[in-house]
Amino acid sequence: MTSSSPLLLLALMLAWSAPAFLPARAGAGDQGLKHIHLYMHEIFAGPNATAIVAVPSPLGANATFGVVGVLDDELRDGPDPKSSSLVGRYQGIFAGAGLVSPPGMQSAINFVFTAGEHSGSTLAMLGPVLSFTGAIERSVVGGTGAFRMARGYCVMTAAGNPTPDSIVYEVDLFVKMDYA
Ligand SMILES: *[C@@H]1O[C@H](CO)[C@@H](O)[C@H](O)[C@H]1NC(C)=O
Ligand SMILES: *[C@@H]1O[C@H](CO)[C@@H](O)[C@H](O)[C@H]1NC(C)=O
Repeated sequence: MTSSSPLLLLALMLAWSAPAFLPARAGAGDQGLKHIHLYMHEIFAGPNATAIVAVPSPLGANATFGVVGVLDDELRDGPDPKSSSLVGRYQGIFAGAGLVSPPGMQSAINFVFTAGEHSGSTLAMLGPVLSFTGAIERSVVGGTGAFRMARGYCVMTAAGNPTPDSIVYEVDLFVKMDYA
């Protein structure tokens, strides 16, 4: 991946920065919201990249509008890639969908839990990334297994760069299962 690739540009914009606001925390009496706390680990360049541009923008090598990519990042129970445990995958697609307010990414992501308390269940997240300089909030629109009928929201904040080609996000999911 060259230094002018849109994904690397995005990744550079994703470089750690202080969150603009703190993610909301679920507490007692928070209407039954279940709080799931995870870390997403992404490698955005090199032979072991977990996030890649599949289709570059037809508008040019540096354009983000029109870029389509896929990712299969790790979900771990801690921020350290070595000492934490793998609990699932963060799989999905993203597209540069912001023509006038870059980067305006659209994303459709599945949290696929493969170990631990939620193993075998999934959560589906849909929504935009309007800014890379603070907390990223997106909708949780459904789930499978223990998360059937789930709805809620997800807040992610950059938590560090373990290597120059990787980034870790703290993930706070707040969901409830509504069978009504
Ligand atoms: C990529 O992964 C392989 C297999 O785990 C490893 O041997 C190699 O060092 C990794 N390459 C980089 C650049 O991290
Ligand atoms: C892309 O950006 C790089 C670095 O800023 C620049 O050198 C290059 O000319 C740009 N390419 C295009 C096609 O605009």
